[in-house]
Amino acid sequence: MRARTLAFVCGLWLAGCVDETSDQASPSQLDLLRPGTATIDDPIEPLPLSVEVDARKVALGQRLFDDPLLSGNGKQACSTCHHLANGGDDGRPKSHQEDRQPAILNTPTVFNLVFNFKYHWGGGYSELAAQLAVPVESPRVYATTFDEIVKKLQGSADYRRAFSAIYPEGITKETLTDAIVELERSFITPNAPFDKFMRGDDSAISERQKAGYALFKSHGCISCHQGMNVGGNMFQKLGVMREFFEERGEVGPGDLGRYNVTKRDEDRHVFRVPSLRNVAVTGPYFHDGSVETLEEAVQVMSEYQLGRPLTKEQVSLIVEFLGTLTGEYQGKVLQ
Ligand code: HEC
Ligand code: HEC
Repeated sequence: MRARTLAFVCGLWLAGCVDETSDQASPSQLDLLRPGTATIDDPIEPLPLSVEVDARKVALGQRLFDDPLLSGNGKQACSTCHHLANGGDDGRPKSHQEDRQPAILNTPTVFNLVFNFKYHWGGGYSELAAQLAVPVESPRVYATTFDEIVKKLQGSADYRRAFSAIYPEGITKETLTDAIVELERSFITPNAPFDKFMRGDDSAISERQKAGYALFKSHGCISCHQGMNVGGNMFQKLGVMREFFEERGEVGPGDLGRYNVTKRDEDRHVFRVPSLRNVAVTGPYFHDGSVETLEEAVQVMSEYQLGRPLTKEQVSLIVEFLGTLTGEYQGKVLQ
């Protein structure tokens, strides 16, 4: 009976979880309905061990990612907020860079991007190439323009050489975007203990972690956090069963989520369900960075999304399971 699908799981646990009439049902979610992909028994698939990328473009992309020259004031790099050794985020509730307006959202990880159906907390972007305009132009990030960046890069003989070795047209908005996007496609974190377990190594995770996984499924977390990224394939409201924002207070523009993209009332406080890959090393949690520990994040989820609090022991089991989702980047376990 492995062809029974997640749509059924959703119907069982959470009326309306999969709504094929609205954009809350994503193409990748529909992919999950195909027999032979995710099923009730194995709703999470392992990440591929590698992805095919052009190594020269990735190397150039990495240089650009790490180079503060690109930012308007020469002080920020992508890696200032997206640390590749520590989860692809910055470990802060919200970033606030020198000479910049404070961020209104927690910095998400840049790992395993290609397995998300949309980008940003509100899901405003479908393509990484289009997303790049945000860090480049935002007054909270680089506060610059592509034209300015191209001009600066053209002032460097080194960059001119590096670009023309790959791109006959040299340094343009399109070629610098292409190199960064190729790098972003390479940001995958395979070999998590959970993936080893899924591939058949029964000893890769402990009995308690297995019990945590079973609880993650039976309690209903899996209805929203599922697929290869254990999330990243649908939109859901924060506060399905209990008002999150009324209780937290001070609702700001970052809290509106998908509403900022669609301006539809029903999208208020709706967010892309985040991937739980590497979640043990990507705190603080939620779009507002309001929760410091994974224990608290799990309890918030069970109360506000499922309306069913967990005992302390159950929270521990789920947290132990979530710890098995920490993978490796370039052969090193993320910390
Ligand atoms: C000041 C901190 C900061 C810097 C610097 C920064 N980012 Fe981000 N990044 C963020 C925040 C905050 C978001 C979430 C934006 C949102 O959801 O609206 C984000 C989102 C992203 C995403 C989407 C992730 C997802 O899961 O949807 C990508 C990709 C990304 N950034 C790439 C970059 C690149 C490339 C650079 C350099 C050009 C960069 N970022 C520089 C803070 C930063
Ligand atoms: C109804 C859908 C839904 C269910 C069910 C659900 N989640 Fe979530 N989860 C979300 C959404 C949406 C967010 C993002 C909320 C935000 O940041 O504002 C989220 C965020 C999280 C985060 C924080 C991730 C991060 O990077 O900040 C964790 C951890 C988490 N969920 C774990 C769980 C666990 C464990 C369960 C089961 C007890 C669960 N979730 C059940 C939708 C759901």
